[in-house]
Amino acid sequence: MIPLEPLLPVCCAVRHRSSLKQPKMMLPVWCLVALTALTSAVNPGVKVKLTQKGLEYGRELGIASIQKKLQSIKLPDMSGSASTVVGKVKYSFTNMHIVNVGLPQSSVSLEPGAGVKLSVTNAFMSLNGNWKIKYLFIKDSGSFDLSVTGLSITTTIAVNSDETGRPTVSGSSCSAAVGSVSIKFHGGASWLYNLFTDSIDKSLRSALEKHICPLVADSISDINPYLKTLNVLAKVDEYAEIEYSMVSSPVISTSSVELSLKGEFYNIGKHQEPPFTPAVFSLPSSNDTMLYIGLSSYIANSAGFVYTTAGALSLYITDDMIPASSPIRLNTKTFGALIPQIAQQFPDLMMKLLLKEVKSPVFAFESDNTTIQTTATMTAFAIQVNGTLSPLFVLNMNTSVSVEVSVSGTSLAGSVSLNKMDLTLETSYVGDFQVKLLDRIFQSFLKGVILPRINAEFSKGFPLPTIGEVKLVNTQLQIVKDYVLIGTDVQFSG
Ligand SMILES: *[C@@H]1O[C@H](CO)[C@@H](O)[C@H](O)[C@H]1NC(C)=O
Ligand SMILES: *[C@@H]1O[C@H](CO)[C@@H](O)[C@H](O)[C@H]1NC(C)=O
Ligand SMILES: *[C@@H]1O[C@H](CO)[C@@H](O)[C@H](O)[C@H]1NC(C)=O
Ligand SMILES: *[C@@H]1O[C@H](CO)[C@@H](O)[C@H](O)[C@H]1NC(C)=O
Repeated sequence: MIPLEPLLPVCCAVRHRSSLKQPKMMLPVWCLVALTALTSAVNPGVKVKLTQKGLEYGRELGIASIQKKLQSIKLPDMSGSASTVVGKVKYSFTNMHIVNVGLPQSSVSLEPGAGVKLSVTNAFMSLNGNWKIKYLFIKDSGSFDLSVTGLSITTTIAVNSDETGRPTVSGSSCSAAVGSVSIKFHGGASWLYNLFTDSIDKSLRSALEKHICPLVADSISDINPYLKTLNVLAKVDEYAEIEYSMVSSPVISTSSVELSLKGEFYNIGKHQEPPFTPAVFSLPSSNDTMLYIGLSSYIANSAGFVYTTAGALSLYITDDMIPASSPIRLNTKTFGALIPQIAQQFPDLMMKLLLKEVKSPVFAFESDNTTIQTTATMTAFAIQVNGTLSPLFVLNMNTSVSVEVSVSGTSLAGSVSLNKMDLTLETSYVGDFQVKLLDRIFQSFLKGVILPRINAEFSKGFPLPTIGEVKLVNTQLQIVKDYVLIGTDVQFSG
């Protein structure tokens, strides 16, 4: 029995349940290493561009994370001694904690070839703690408030590709400098304060400067678990998965970070390359949305190849699939009215059709128009009373459909409509007849039975490359020559 689903050129036929939960279907690492190595010279089927607007969103998330980390700084107790006219004064500062951190100014910029530079300026912090001194046999203690202003942090984040073809980030340089420190002591004799103002200033400065960069590096590392959720192997359905691993290192220019992803459908468990390769394409310089995703016709054509090779693009059509309202029924009476031999040789029998894709469907992306050319055969059978199928004829059926492409959630969906259908006779078992006479019937089957089924599959969409629980908002889609361009903003929850 030939599977009923996915149907005809249901290349993108899709159930994308597990697309986001990547790790459980990861290939062994050695395998991905091999794949990455093998494909490193290959043109990408998908490109993803992060614009300045996207970086700004990243900066907001990053600053929130750094602020939280700085808030948690635990400063060690400090102690020392000073020589005075009354002898040696021992002092200690204990129980210091951060009360408030403000990062009011920050900026993000791109350093071509190096990474993303994040700068924080005019940051401030306030702390409090306790002081204690001991000299001769006198002890004194109190509390202090300390405020740090003019704090600046500069870090460069390198973006690379890991062994699974996912992006990774790491802090490649960091510096932190404290502008000024002012301290207010409470309790005790004020003349004592002068003894250790300098000392606490110096110690705190260096303690803070020492603590900040490792925390910033932590904030950067915290991004990696999210990047690890990139669906480098996005399952589509029982036949296919899409590979979205990076085929080369990210390219950082003055205006964007661009990732090149494989973007290819594979038959699950059998990674056979199609007999064509991706064409070179480049994304436009648009920067209105955070992210641009370009999906080339290659990814669609690789889908066509996978489903055709898997034998998934075939469909038996029976009378019960034809809308009850249709006057055209799938029986030898209908066909016999056009081809009398059928009525004579096979009177009053129901019929069955087998539609079978014989070549991979070909996708073409033109400006504002996506078409799919399919090459199929349509075999008609009479169903004998005892159930035997008697072949009547085989037609070659070439169709051109237009696809209305849309983004649904984090999937790319589509809806097809018929442009053109051409029938020619391949074989007849009932003698000569004029194929043209069958045009109307087959057009009606296409529109009433086949296309609705394809649309049901297409509407499920196939998974786009995504990270974590991302939501696409303000999404626009455009068909340009050779690729689909999606411009979108993103929102991460949690
Ligand atoms: C977007 O591009 C235009 C033209 O190239 C440029 O003037 C503008 O500054 C860019 N916007 C952002 C947010 O980078
Ligand atoms: C798209 O292209 C196909 C084939 O060239 C054509 O038949 C169809 O009318 C076009 N559709 C639009 C909306 O331009
Ligand atoms: C089924 O019926 C057809 C037509 O009457 C006959 O030619 C064929 O041999 C029958 N097949 C079986 C398996 O009985
Ligand atoms: C159908 O397509 C095939 C190849 O794609 C081509 O050779 C053939 O001439 C086409 N037939 C018609 C009737 O357009």
